Amino acid sequence: MKEVIEELEQRRATAMLGGGQKRIDAQHGRGKLTARERLTVLLDAGSFEEFDMFVEHRCTDFGMDQTKIPGDGVVTGWGTVNGRAVFVFAKDFTVFGGSLSETHAQKIQKVQDLALRNRAPIIGLYDAGGARIQEGVAALGGYAEVFQRNILASGVIPQISVIMGPCAGGDVYSPAMTDFIFMVRERSYMFVTGPDVVKTVTNETVTAEELGGARVHTTKSSIADGAYDHDVDALLQMRRLVDFLPSSNTAPIPELQTHQPIGEDDPSLDTLVPDNANKPYDIKELIEKTIDEGDFFEIQADFAKNIVTGFGRMEGRTTGFVANQPLVLAGVLDSDASRKAARFVRFCDAFSIPIVTFVDVPGFLPGTSQEYGGLIKHGAKLLFAYGEATVPKVTVITRKAFGGAYDVMASKHLRGDINYAWPSAQIAVMGAKGAVEIIHRKDAGDPDRIAEHTRSYEDRFLSPFVAAERGYVDEVIMPRSTRNRVARALRLLRNKDLENPWKKHDNIPL
Ligand code: HXC
Repeated sequence: MKEVIEELEQRRATAMLGGGQKRIDAQHGRGKLTARERLTVLLDAGSFEEFDMFVEHRCTDFGMDQTKIPGDGVVTGWGTVNGRAVFVFAKDFTVFGGSLSETHAQKIQKVQDLALRNRAPIIGLYDAGGARIQEGVAALGGYAEVFQRNILASGVIPQISVIMGPCAGGDVYSPAMTDFIFMVRERSYMFVTGPDVVKTVTNETVTAEELGGARVHTTKSSIADGAYDHDVDALLQMRRLVDFLPSSNTAPIPELQTHQPIGEDDPSLDTLVPDNANKPYDIKELIEKTIDEGDFFEIQADFAKNIVTGFGRMEGRTTGFVANQPLVLAGVLDSDASRKAARFVRFCDAFSIPIVTFVDVPGFLPGTSQEYGGLIKHGAKLLFAYGEATVPKVTVITRKAFGGAYDVMASKHLRGDINYAWPSAQIAVMGAKGAVEIIHRKDAGDPDRIAEHTRSYEDRFLSPFVAAERGYVDEVIMPRSTRNRVARALRLLRNKDLENPWKKHDNIPL
């Protein structure tokens, strides 16, 4: 027994060293933690249970049989985040550059299967060079097995990817099919083909950072949902995110004790909307004053800033927030904003997270670049997402709700459950100027008549009352009472029971 224990300890010590001290030092030298250090930060202290520490690759080509390293470039297992089980895998860059072999893939598949079977979230930490080149199709097959599991788990358990180093080839597609991707600034990048191949094929010269760094993916491509300055920050933020998420699509919404009970009105909200309807204000102030303790986890904060998406809590329970942002492009809906919000709404619906929508939208963005870029299809994504969602939907129109964007933004007609408007709401086909120019074109040369038409249009349409008269708005509420009213509405809707007709799956415009 003593000898076996000694062998176990010795084998474990070897496995813990991964690619060896020199490579661990190099990893630290690049400002990165090792795979196991990362898991220590991510998981509750002492909760990590590692699987398959002694697994080695079986490749014999290119002299690979001479270089076997226990663990084979990925550390897998499970642990807890604030007491709740999560499955994890972390690429170990010190071992063959974290590249994926057949056995490495099997280790990931094992935790994917366990996560799905046991209905717990799975988090992948990426720092790797793609398919293990020496293994050829065995590595490609391994990736596809991982992808297939990502697809089956989608909408059943939350899947999160954190990109903490290079991430190329096959390593980008598995994250791409997960619910959220986060990156570490300056140290991580994601691309299908790297700068060298780009140079050969297109003759473009770009650096890895320019091609697929955190800035590119959080601001241009929208591949990443957020970025952090270093490993520790990224991992601590993932703990915060996990706290917001249910463990699966059938698990209850997590509840966290709040220190801010419902009850007090917030008079500062009565002056949030400026008197001048064309003046911007920050919708995040409303979100932060509505949710418990102002604790907002924003998703895609740096992309399509004209719409804000993220998680907060109401009476301790996770709630998704979608809000037009008047500070950016007057809160207009364009293709990017529509795609961003549609994906968020679908995530919330898949995991039974109620959605609160704050509306201040002057319409869809006109122009050739939007139309050529498929605004119709992208706008339809958001329309579709809200319309198919069966979770509780509470909507508050704070100011403008114009045109198609009125319909799209969780309107009553898309099965909005409780739809409120502030007294400052303006619900109409379009703003006064555009409307008068069209319906009173014959008076265009007469400024007095135009002014009169504008006044009468504003009086009739630029208020919440035409919609309220028809029941499209359930009640006009005082801004100061928003937190209370939304919380009461969500409490009312906790037992909401609504099902869509059976179908194999829908055909959302992609
Ligand atoms: C085998 C690999 C490897 C790989 C890196 N290594 N990538 N071994 N297969 N894919 C090894 C290196 O040989 C090296 O070993 C060690 O890992 C560290 O790599 P370096 O190149 O020294 O590190 P660095 O300079 O930091 O560069 C990291 C890197 C680079 C940018 C990731 O290694 C790289 O470009 N790798 C190849 C990326 C790639 O094209 N992968 C295949 C994608 S195709 P030694 O022993 O010398 O230290 C793919 C197909 C799947 O993934 C598609 C499915 C849809």
